Amino acid sequence: MKGKKSTAKREVLFFKPSIGRDEEQAVLDVLRSGWLTTGMRVCEFEKDFANFAGARFAIALSSCTAALHLALEVLDLNSDDEVITTPFTFSSTASEILHAGAKIKFVDVDPSTGNIDATRIKNAVTDRTKAVLPVHFAGHPCDMDSIMDIALEYDLRIIEDAAHALEAKWADNKIGSIGDFTCFSFYATKNITTGEGGMVTCDNEIMAEKIRLLSLHAMTKDAWKRYMPDEQNNRNNKYYQIVSRGYKYNMTDIQAALGIAQLRKVEKMWERRKNLVSLYMSRLADVSEIKLMAIENSIKHAHHLMLIKLVPGELNISRDNFLNELRDRAIGASIHFVSLHMHPYYKNKFGFEDNDFPNAAYLSNNIITLPLYPDLSEEDVYYVTDCVKEIIEKHKAKKLVSVTS
Ligand SMILES: Cc1ncc(COP(=O)(O)O)c(C=O)c1O
Repeated sequence: MKGKKSTAKREVLFFKPSIGRDEEQAVLDVLRSGWLTTGMRVCEFEKDFANFAGARFAIALSSCTAALHLALEVLDLNSDDEVITTPFTFSSTASEILHAGAKIKFVDVDPSTGNIDATRIKNAVTDRTKAVLPVHFAGHPCDMDSIMDIALEYDLRIIEDAAHALEAKWADNKIGSIGDFTCFSFYATKNITTGEGGMVTCDNEIMAEKIRLLSLHAMTKDAWKRYMPDEQNNRNNKYYQIVSRGYKYNMTDIQAALGIAQLRKVEKMWERRKNLVSLYMSRLADVSEIKLMAIENSIKHAHHLMLIKLVPGELNISRDNFLNELRDRAIGASIHFVSLHMHPYYKNKFGFEDNDFPNAAYLSNNIITLPLYPDLSEEDVYYVTDCVKEIIEKHKAKKLVSVTS
């Protein structure tokens, strides 16, 4: 297969969700049931998910952003408290620390995985540090042994951003069963999708109940409990009480029906992505002008993103023009991520310079995300990898050769 020729020019989408008959039927059943918002399906999805993640509790929410927000909110942080996280992530990881009223403390990443460099976390801990928020970038789990050791030593809470890491394991431990809270995303391009959606897992019953309460206006009874026939017999049930400052972060039964059907296929879809990543890697392994992300042996990678890194100085084309050339060849490539410290809001508010986190800046300037999803064909991968090589051939930097007489 390795030597197989690529096919003629084709369109390769960046992502396409795998939605089949099961998902269609599941959603149709909900639409016909008469109950569309949070109800039985959400309850079932939460049970299935807790089981899958190896956690006692799973609370379905409207997004991973909501999950991060509520996991931080229940820590009761104040404006002097600090949360350590990575700048090399999506907006929500850091914005939710601010929404929860605390300070962000960025720690640079390991350029081989894009994950927070666990060896630097200890130096960033102060007497105001309350939590660490690692992101399992692209699906490669962070060094959870080191992170949990630091948490124990300094009495810190661990909130994991597992938006990319649904199927991942650190050693034999499923992501979702390690830290105090783990937050997952079911956004349209994630490993399973509910269109939009998220989940937070945890083992602490009191915290789980707090999150559930806050997720729906902090009302003591949700609509399901107020309207179901057996409950209607109880005259007191028409009243709810608002016991805190809540949010509107609940998941609907329509989303949950999709999620249940998707979760049944999760390992099959993972297997397919894993094989596609192996094919990508075998086709690109010998190209010295790019580097592939490291995959440590002892982990299970969730294979959310397929990334290449352009090696600085090897090419006379910028990363952005490389991306344009891929797009000229009808390939939907992308960038994950431009480090948060390089965005205008963070620069203006905190005075960051690009080089404050040099590894995150290096990745931000050199990384490209290639298409990866179960419906991608082997021929698509041949085409994409051939195009990558063609662009590299066209733009190889001319090296000065010193000639000695
Ligand atoms: C690392 C990371 N964290 C959090 C999120 C937020 O997920 P959601 O869109 O479900 O809020 C994303 C979304 O892309 C992400 O990539």
